[in-house]
Amino acid sequence: MTFAQKKVVIPIETDQNSLVLSTDRANRLRIGHFGKRLQQAVDYESIPDYSARDDDQNGMSNSAYTSSGSTNLFEPAFAVTHADGNMSTELKYVSHTVTKQDANVTVTSIVLKDDVYPVEVTLFYKTYAKENVVEQWSVIKNNEGKAITLEKYASANLYFKADNYYLTHYHGNWAREMKPEHTLLTAGIKSIDSKLGTRANLFEPPTFMVSFDRASTEDEGNVLLGQLAWSGNFKIDFELDAIHNLRLIAGINPYASAYSLAPAKSFVTPSFIFTFSDKGKGDASRNLHRWARKYRILDGNGSRLTLLNNWEATYFDFDETKLTALFADAKKLGVDLFLLDDGWFGNKYPRNNDRAGLGDWQENVKKLPNGLGYLVKETKNAGVKFGIWLEPEMVNPKSELYEKHPDWVIKEPKRPEHYFRNQLVLDLANPEVQNFVFGILDNMFTKNPEIGFIKWDCNAVIYNAHSAYLEKTGQKQSQLYVDYVKGLYKVLERIRAKYPTVPMMLCSGGGGRVDYGALNYFTEFWLSDNTDPLERVFIQWENSYFYPAIAHCNHVTDWSKVSMKYRTDVAMMGKMGFDIVVSKLEEKELKSAQNSIAAYNNVKDVIWHGDLFRLVNPFDHPFAALMFVNEAKDHAVQFNYLVTNRYDQGFTTSPIRLKGLDSTKKYKIKEINLYPDTRTPVNENLTYSGDYLMNIGFNPILTSNRKSVVLEITAVQ
Ligand code: DGJ
Repeated sequence: MTFAQKKVVIPIETDQNSLVLSTDRANRLRIGHFGKRLQQAVDYESIPDYSARDDDQNGMSNSAYTSSGSTNLFEPAFAVTHADGNMSTELKYVSHTVTKQDANVTVTSIVLKDDVYPVEVTLFYKTYAKENVVEQWSVIKNNEGKAITLEKYASANLYFKADNYYLTHYHGNWAREMKPEHTLLTAGIKSIDSKLGTRANLFEPPTFMVSFDRASTEDEGNVLLGQLAWSGNFKIDFELDAIHNLRLIAGINPYASAYSLAPAKSFVTPSFIFTFSDKGKGDASRNLHRWARKYRILDGNGSRLTLLNNWEATYFDFDETKLTALFADAKKLGVDLFLLDDGWFGNKYPRNNDRAGLGDWQENVKKLPNGLGYLVKETKNAGVKFGIWLEPEMVNPKSELYEKHPDWVIKEPKRPEHYFRNQLVLDLANPEVQNFVFGILDNMFTKNPEIGFIKWDCNAVIYNAHSAYLEKTGQKQSQLYVDYVKGLYKVLERIRAKYPTVPMMLCSGGGGRVDYGALNYFTEFWLSDNTDPLERVFIQWENSYFYPAIAHCNHVTDWSKVSMKYRTDVAMMGKMGFDIVVSKLEEKELKSAQNSIAAYNNVKDVIWHGDLFRLVNPFDHPFAALMFVNEAKDHAVQFNYLVTNRYDQGFTTSPIRLKGLDSTKKYKIKEINLYPDTRTPVNENLTYSGDYLMNIGFNPILTSNRKSVVLEITAVQ
């Protein structure tokens, strides 16, 4: 054992929080503190160095990046098979650098090396001070002269001390996404993971919360919100150690993913993103939203286009005449854009259902004899923009693409093909396939530069994970899951380099494929095919902890027969769109839909760029209430939804305490988006102080006859 001369203490700080790392006597890097920032930095020096005695079973439990095969007895963050077949690693601190990128953003990088094997890991901690967000990742470098195999290569390793730990994670399936699961963590390891290859969210998103000591509420408690920003297989381990401290290890799922690292090459892990608050889940989520809008989501502080989508209006059954009528409907409704969905392509194998044509991105000449150019022109004539659906990562076996390039498809050569929605996934590990996918968009934009929106869909998981390309190039099959996502990001990178501003929706029918890795390239995402507004109140509620409203695509559809008002009220709470047959709407319904767009246009700025406060939780109450407040606190909008259809027992709300207002300001409250010919019981002439509204509250008067109520709250001089 070599002993360091001096203990090195490395505080990773945001405005409110700190993570304090320090070296032990053997020069290994430990976590000494996680949580609220200490007032005096000098106090960090007093944190014990946790130098493990030889007989200490707790060993490396609080390691900042736990390696495997040496003195560690816990779940490792890092496991390697060295060039000579040896499987032991012991990382030691070498040096660190702190780089201030600007007044808010600082990157601390810490180099760790093994004394025996020349493998090097650099831990990166990027802090966003004002938003209290940390982005953590690692870079692994092979200096061994021969290839090594990375068996486990986590992005982050954290350590927490509390009386108890309450985990909230999510599970789901098609149309049942983001179901929260709250559980007390007990001794042992609880892992959440995905092995689906694509669209992890279908079963389990890479997103969670941990409350410390006791379950946090909206406004109270110590809570961590975290996510692995990776659009493929992930694994997050929560391990209670022998002294009841919690270890967290988050990274790419090591399942079937041993990764060979050539000499002198580096492997960059995806980021693990987290924020901590001692003021409950609401504060934590607002921090994450501010960060995401400013630093992550494409055009996160910009604006979005309202739209009419034709998927549920026509499915695959349309032609130019039908579409042209829909363009006029989009204009009549008052939206910004018409979005043409699935079914417009394929000739030898026309895309008239989901069994054929995927991969053949040429306009179907029967449906669209004049091509996309004509549609772009016609939408322009109708006074709306044109957007289009693509599913570029996928292929139907019944397609020309599959006939021409069977080796571009992920499939096990010795086993029968197995389909998910009759389709297979293209092998994005293969650079030729990457070029092909890039070319789909590039050709389309070159021919039709006025295309104003892309819906990028993804409807299959990876079965039979095998790549003909990896085989041909002598690489390990176990790299496919990782190389797939890296290939996808390469394509998206190229698309964004050439087309930096065109809005793109990240879609997946089932699962809502979303994470902060992908949102680098997308302006918004599809939360679920389930657009029943009652269900959406819950799905949107849970998504709102992690993603700001500007990125939520909420469409009004015919999934449910509840009133147009309820449907539009729910869709307003994000980026509003429609997927209905406008021509079949009754007069009042149409008027209601049109009014809702006008109402939305007046408040959308607050919804997109304001702070979200959750007021009443629909999981615990028969209704939901939440509000958005702008930065100046002079404009807010509050949404209230009844979520029970139980026998009417004369239900009515009592005053609900508002949040986020300025207590010294005076406000007026106006009910908006009323159904045509209905009156509001809300007296718009009264004024209230912010203090009153936040302590006494305001009754939106939700009843079984007023199932949803939207209030616009405006400061008066
Ligand atoms: C799944 C999406 O969620 C739907 O909105 C629609 O685009 C279909 N795919 C089209 O196949």
